[in-house]
Amino acid sequence: MGQIQVSNDKEALLTSIKGELKAHLSYLEFAKKAEDEGFPNIARVFRALAEAERIHMMTFGRLYFGRNLTDDDIKNLAKDITIEVHSTKENLETGLKNENYENTELYQTFADISIKSNPGAYIIFKQTANAEGIHRDIFSYLLELVKKGQDLKASEKIFLCPVCGYIVLGKKPAKCPICNEPEENFIEF
Ligand SMILES: [Fe+2]
Ligand SMILES: [Fe+2]
Repeated sequence: MGQIQVSNDKEALLTSIKGELKAHLSYLEFAKKAEDEGFPNIARVFRALAEAERIHMMTFGRLYFGRNLTDDDIKNLAKDITIEVHSTKENLETGLKNENYENTELYQTFADISIKSNPGAYIIFKQTANAEGIHRDIFSYLLELVKKGQDLKASEKIFLCPVCGYIVLGKKPAKCPICNEPEENFIEF
């Protein structure tokens, strides 16, 4: 977080790959912590979010390298990444803050940088900004539950769009509101 120091679409994509990998790895750890603290259903949401961020990373990776990221690429990128795990309440606050930053600043700036030089990346930055905004709203809902000492209901379904990382709790829409992917392809957590 902090100052965005990126001057072209390639740098923006590489920064995004690393940021999404960090979010992916963080949310997997946050899921374990939520389970330890007696929030197994919030842990399910963290796992869905972790998968959403992995999808973002893979999409940015294809745009950057022109091919799929390999396990070795991911291992190398993960070397510089450190994950901090706190209480579930604090982890939700961290997630909320980061998703909000990505929604309102980071990916909007990266979209602006790419609009002329890389229109394909521009569209993905815009879609990803929207998905992160949805993630922020989910964090804010979960945070209110945890403040009351409550877990998400076990019966609450969690669905992930496998294309853009959109997540919905409860009922699936007929198609993804961000990327139009049909609901039958959504992944349930
Ligand atoms: Fe996110
Ligand atoms: Fe989608």
